[in-house]
Amino acid sequence: MLKLFNKNGAKPDDTQRDDDVVIDIRDITKVYQMGDIEVRALNGVSLEIRKGEFLSIMGPSGSGKSTMMNILGALDQPSTGEYFLDGEDVSRLSESDLARVRNQKIGFVFQNYNLLKRTPAIRQVELPLIYAGASERRKRAQAALELVGLERRMDHLPTELSGGQQQRVAIARALVNNPAMILADEATGNLDSRSGAEILQIMQRLNQEQGITIVFVTHDPWIARHTRRLVMLRDGKIVADEPIPRPLVAGKDERPSEAAEMEAIFQDAYYGGSEDEYN
Ligand SMILES: Nc1ncnc2c1ncn2[C@@H]1O[C@H](COP(=O)(O)OP(=O)(O)OP(=O)(O)O)[C@@H](O)[C@H]1O
Ligand SMILES: [Mg+2]
Repeated sequence: MLKLFNKNGAKPDDTQRDDDVVIDIRDITKVYQMGDIEVRALNGVSLEIRKGEFLSIMGPSGSGKSTMMNILGALDQPSTGEYFLDGEDVSRLSESDLARVRNQKIGFVFQNYNLLKRTPAIRQVELPLIYAGASERRKRAQAALELVGLERRMDHLPTELSGGQQQRVAIARALVNNPAMILADEATGNLDSRSGAEILQIMQRLNQEQGITIVFVTHDPWIARHTRRLVMLRDGKIVADEPIPRPLVAGKDERPSEAAEMEAIFQDAYYGGSEDEYN
């Protein structure tokens, strides 16, 4: 049905934004200048992500996934285009305002965990709260570590934790500030499949129980099947954007032999359909 009026009775128009939209990027480009050569890492990307979505981004190496995550995470600015995060126009902010937005609204999880070497887990998780000048830091950091099942590892250094546990510290650090969203770039990339499943299980729980919006970059179609929407990038453009009909349940669904089949399904979008390109 055509929607002519929103719930306040006002006529919707271009200047009105839906409150449920967390990320709204419009025709974003990112061009890197390498001497005489221009690298067009993103070439006109538009995307809307709503509150509570769990979305994965896939695409071949060099397709622009990390570039896009850096822009979504306000770590970098687009060359052209607009970016509204939680209704705020991020593409025009100064460096110090970007830092504020990052601290308040975004939790990052990286492939290599990015933990401080000589700092116990509880301190790592307290850090964003210190930057934000928040109160009850220890209590909140403890609660975040409990949420990821590390209540008995609070005083451990990264060297005293497994890879999966280190990544869980990173997740606790990402969510301790109650961010509007979590951005994870290959968060399971360094982990064996059991630790990877644990991370996915935590992410699914955070998404379902706390309604946290999650964007998950991965190379692995099986991992992507645990999310609820899949965006495929290729050569700096979105070439597919589809809901995932029956997401897998982490810790319950074993890695199926259909993983190969899944890759085949997405082969056209992923590789552009031509075998010559990747053989
Ligand atoms: N700082 C930079 N300076 C110049 N070119 C860059 C820079 N960062 C990325 N690029 C280029 O932009 C393109 C996209 O890179 P990006 O890192 O976003 O790819 P990706 O999809 O994350 O790849 P991967 O799967 O390997 O992590 C690549 O061609 C890359 O070489
Ligand atoms: Mg990358």
